[in-house]
Amino acid sequence: AKLQSVKIVEVGPRDGLQNEKTIVPLETKIHLIDMLSASGLPVIEATSFVSPKWVPQMADQVEVMKGISRKPGVSYPVLTPNLKGFQAAVSAGASEVAIFGAASELFSKKNINCSVDESLQRFDEVMKAAKEAGVPVRGYVSCVLGCPYEGKVEPAKVAHVAKRLYSMGCYEISLGDTIGVGTPGSMCEMLKVVSREVPVSALAVHCHDTYGQALANILVALQMGVSVVDSSVAGLGGCPYAQGASGNVATEDVVYMLHGLGIQTGVDLSKVMDAGAFICRSLNRKSNSKVAQATCKL
Ligand code: HMG
Ligand code: MG
Repeated sequence: AKLQSVKIVEVGPRDGLQNEKTIVPLETKIHLIDMLSASGLPVIEATSFVSPKWVPQMADQVEVMKGISRKPGVSYPVLTPNLKGFQAAVSAGASEVAIFGAASELFSKKNINCSVDESLQRFDEVMKAAKEAGVPVRGYVSCVLGCPYEGKVEPAKVAHVAKRLYSMGCYEISLGDTIGVGTPGSMCEMLKVVSREVPVSALAVHCHDTYGQALANILVALQMGVSVVDSSVAGLGGCPYAQGASGNVATEDVVYMLHGLGIQTGVDLSKVMDAGAFICRSLNRKSNSKVAQATCKL
């Protein structure tokens, strides 16, 4: 059956900004999030409750959560690597969180300073607290199509971690091509294996665009029934622990492609483009979105 609609998870304020060297002013972050919610995006990942020593850019997480104007119907999940982060997030008013694991041991160690098994124990604690508090939890798996430290990653390893997160109670599993090395070929193989363990209706794809394959990879995922796509306004982003990886696929480009396929998103493309123009002006940066760069219009 053809997909009627796709849920876009905007990760720009978190993934997009976390790698910025210069601290982005609080007001800019808040304004960006409010512009994104005005565009009709249903989910906006707002910030991370991680250590400010590890990711200084996210040190204003409490102020961000307090400053945004929450639009009814929009969710604003935040990253929480452990119980400490979860408790801080809930105190700051977060009503949804995401735990983030990896299919690669070395990436797990570099990113969250523990092994994959240890991370799953920490996530179990977060999950228990979240269930008690009635807070929905999303799960990420990083390095699903390759790791900056280990190279090739077996789809079976991705399926194992994805299944663990899903069994724990994550309502959705976002599969991260952290360094953007995947192709439609490897995406297809990986999804085949993972969808044997986690229903495809609970899967999302999170593509970075380092090798220019993100839209093609997303299209393959859609054809295989995935109906949740992560993206970042203006294609901002990157992980501080995955050097050389470029930003996420641009939200503008994903929306353009989906609407061209006749798939609904509820997103107003011109308003996302306004948000992209705003953040690029603030960062003094050219947009990574092809749609934003295009000057020829239909
Ligand atoms: P650690 O140093 O192992 O933690 O860090 P610890 O438990 O040993 O504690 C050390 C210190 O950190 C203590 O403070 C703790 O209180 C503090 P001290 O006593 O030294 O003053 N601490 C915290 N502070 C604030 N918030 C917390 C927290 N936990 C402990 N939650 C930790 C472990 C996970 C905290 C650290 O490694 C960390 O913050 N890592 C950052 C990871 C990160 O944000 N990475 C980028 C996001 S992931 C990503 O981009 C991939 C994704 O986009 C998908 C994809 O593309 O694949 C999601
Ligand atoms: Mg990412």
